[in-house]
Amino acid sequence: MKPYIVAIFNQKGGISKTTTSTNLAVCLAAFGKSVVVIDLDSQGDSTKSLGIDPKIKQGIYDLFIGHVPVADVIVPTGFEGVRVLPSTYSLAGIELKLSEMQNSQRTLSTILAHTDLECDYVVVDCPPALGILPINALASAHAVIIPVTATPYANDGLLRTLPSIKYVQEGLNKNLLLQGVLFTIHDKTKTTRKINELIRSRLGGTVYKAEIPRDNMVIEAATSRLPVCVYAPKSAAAQAHLDFTEEFIDRHVAIAAKAGETIGGRLPRDKAMARLFAWQTSNASSMAPVTDERLRQKESQLDRMLYGDRAWGERWHLAVIHFFIDNRLSLAAFLLVMLIGLIALVGAGFEGVRRLAGLVGLV
Ligand SMILES: Nc1ncnc2c1ncn2[C@@H]1O[C@H](COP(=O)(O)OP(=O)(O)OP(=O)(O)O)[C@@H](O)[C@H]1O
Ligand SMILES: [Mg+2]
Repeated sequence: MKPYIVAIFNQKGGISKTTTSTNLAVCLAAFGKSVVVIDLDSQGDSTKSLGIDPKIKQGIYDLFIGHVPVADVIVPTGFEGVRVLPSTYSLAGIELKLSEMQNSQRTLSTILAHTDLECDYVVVDCPPALGILPINALASAHAVIIPVTATPYANDGLLRTLPSIKYVQEGLNKNLLLQGVLFTIHDKTKTTRKINELIRSRLGGTVYKAEIPRDNMVIEAATSRLPVCVYAPKSAAAQAHLDFTEEFIDRHVAIAAKAGETIGGRLPRDKAMARLFAWQTSNASSMAPVTDERLRQKESQLDRMLYGDRAWGERWHLAVIHFFIDNRLSLAAFLLVMLIGLIALVGAGFEGVRRLAGLVGLV
């Protein structure tokens, strides 16, 4: 079976690409579909929020440079029907590696063309900016979804993203379809409503009816490394992600029908909710509140990352710099004291010279 490959892409950062990817994948699975998430971002956010440790040995990097087959890299998640081709930190170095390889823009298409992933959907979480990885995603995808927020800068992001998609459609993948634009982190203010209306009036039916509202539950869920649809299935954001997933499947069914293909049905909404609640229960241990102990662990982890492999002198130097970065007022006071000290020292020096000159009878 050949999966429907969809890339979640916007050149702008922090616009909910990862949140959309992971929730779409898990909601698709809740509706009874099988999904593989490809995490193309070296930050590994979708890997982490699907409960996979990005310190695992092998990931997309190894797949891209041909070290290992897909079967060795793909990992199951705690959500039945969802597997991940995870990101590892080494993915940050892939640009350089791929630039040495031939046909590097089609590496992912070639891998996917030669692999049976045995799933209905592949969801590709893209990093921000138009580098070699998003190009690979767009070159291999059937469709692309652009998450946007209704703010002026995010609007600019959309204006830069649309030509990039056209560039890929004209050169690398003429079948790439813009499946839709999704409003995310949506606030209902006068300004956002105007931007929302403007984008809807220009892009018409391309924009999904579903809008994902700003919801603190999404941030709480990310802290627990879970998609919000599992962390809080009844929350406004989770319900909106389910609405969006239904719309996404309906659009796919319509696209497939035009091409004379039939797509299997999906489970009804109440069954999908029941599956989400079951995953919420089975992942309850990840949902423990952030305790002081966990915060201390994070702090010492951060210290090890910052200072771990450095000599003592260097550690102290960095610690002083970080102290002053954290305490700018202390830096100002420190510089003031140093200045006063310097002036006093220069003054004392002059006085000393004057007295000495007096003693030897020069003045
Ligand atoms: N609906 C929402 N309500 C509130 N916060 C949200 C919502 N969606 C996403 N966020 C938060 O916004 C931040 C950015 O989201 P996310 O990581 O999904 O964006 P991204 O586009 O993947 O970012 P990047 O470009 O860095 O990969 C995260 O802290 C996330 O928890
Ligand atoms: Mg991301």
